[in-house]
Amino acid sequence: MLGQSSMNFAAAATLMLLVHVGYAKDQRTVTEPKNPQSCTTLKATSGDETQTIQKALNSCAKGKAVALSSGTFYSGPLTIPSGISLLVDSGVTLKALPDPSLYDLGRKTCGTLDEQGVGCKPFITFHGATGSGIYGKGVIDGQGDQTMTGKSESWWKLAADAKKKNNFQNNPRLIQINDSVDITLYQITLKNSPFYHVSTSKTYGLTVWGITINTPSTARNTDGVDPMGSQNVTIAHCSISTGDDNVAIKAMDAPSRHISVLNNHFGSGHGMSIGSEITYGGSDITISGLTLDGTTNGLRIKSNTFRGGLVTGVSYTNVCMLEVKHPILLDMEYGKVTGNLTPEFKNITFSNVKVLTKGTFTFDGLSDTKPVEATMKDVHIKKGSKWITSNAKITGTWAEDVTGTACGNAGNN
Ligand SMILES: *[C@@H]1O[C@H](CO)[C@@H](O)[C@H](O)[C@H]1NC(C)=O
Ligand SMILES: *[C@@H]1O[C@H](CO)[C@@H](O)[C@H](O)[C@H]1NC(C)=O
Ligand SMILES: *[C@@H]1O[C@H](CO)[C@@H](O)[C@H](O)[C@H]1NC(C)=O
Repeated sequence: MLGQSSMNFAAAATLMLLVHVGYAKDQRTVTEPKNPQSCTTLKATSGDETQTIQKALNSCAKGKAVALSSGTFYSGPLTIPSGISLLVDSGVTLKALPDPSLYDLGRKTCGTLDEQGVGCKPFITFHGATGSGIYGKGVIDGQGDQTMTGKSESWWKLAADAKKKNNFQNNPRLIQINDSVDITLYQITLKNSPFYHVSTSKTYGLTVWGITINTPSTARNTDGVDPMGSQNVTIAHCSISTGDDNVAIKAMDAPSRHISVLNNHFGSGHGMSIGSEITYGGSDITISGLTLDGTTNGLRIKSNTFRGGLVTGVSYTNVCMLEVKHPILLDMEYGKVTGNLTPEFKNITFSNVKVLTKGTFTFDGLSDTKPVEATMKDVHIKKGSKWITSNAKITGTWAEDVTGTACGNAGNN
């Protein structure tokens, strides 16, 4: 009996160890999504299609999708109900009408500057949904570049004004996913969002697979994909070029954990970020098979004593960068903003990272007793790069010995 139970104990301990190692990423088994069957098919007229699309979504059978099958659709805000999807076929564009009054949350501030910047609802909302998604090879265009209805400037110009005036633009996000489960974004192209493209909050089970984000580098605050307080997230085979963080993992209302960012390509943008809003912590994050070509930052973790947050169990593997100013930037004093919290960055591993052009590598911890902790394996950088450390505990080795001028397939689609 005793022999039996100690064997069971050994087996259980081994299993727990295996399970623990496996948990450094999305815990689900994620495979390429498939488009759902459609419940109805819509063809574009040239008018405002909001009511038509929303009615079709509301009366669609669970598990099915409303298909937009031809033409250019113009719409105001839409809500994707639980269990229902939107399918934007190849050749079809769904455009967000640039009329601030359609998105206004009741304070008549959408499309203006103020001290908060929270006056607009998103273009597409998922709230409390299970098993919903957006599919198809078509385009969703946020029209951030278009002049707002009744105004003399575009959403993006308003965002630029906010910077000058040191306040906030009230612009709609393109897709907001809150308190939801098993949400999929597949193959769709998103462009010209007035604000963040995809943002989640407390969402458990998110698959973003094969999508393209293509927005100019000059469009302010146009983050690509921002999982916030979310778990079991996979972002795979995507191509993201935009005007702010390509991907930013945040935790403002709950921890962000079990996140896999696999085989993606980033063009313009501010890079692969964790933080700075990471108060509830980020852990068990795998970033693998990433190419960055022309982003301002590469692999970046940012916080400060105002935001705090424990960031741990982050592994970056098979990453290649070209023309990136700050290839690795671990900064606990981001923006020099201070408060009473203590950010911690530990167990951060870089392996098989190649940086083909010169850049500045920065590791900035809080103090001797609160250092940035990172491990390097197989890290090859360009001769003449800058390596700046302050309160950093870096183990392993790296070398200024990289050769080659192209990234090849490290993050191919
Ligand atoms: C993540 O996925 C695993 C495996 O499917 C599941 O057991 C776990 O409950 C999920 N976590 C959350 C927070 O939903
Ligand atoms: C979704 O979550 C974000 C972040 O917590 C919040 O700002 C926003 O108000 C939420 N939206 C809805 C419709 O609940
Ligand atoms: C460090 O993080 C990895 C995931 O990247 C995890 O598997 C491992 O258990 C962590 N080690 C410690 C000591 O926390």
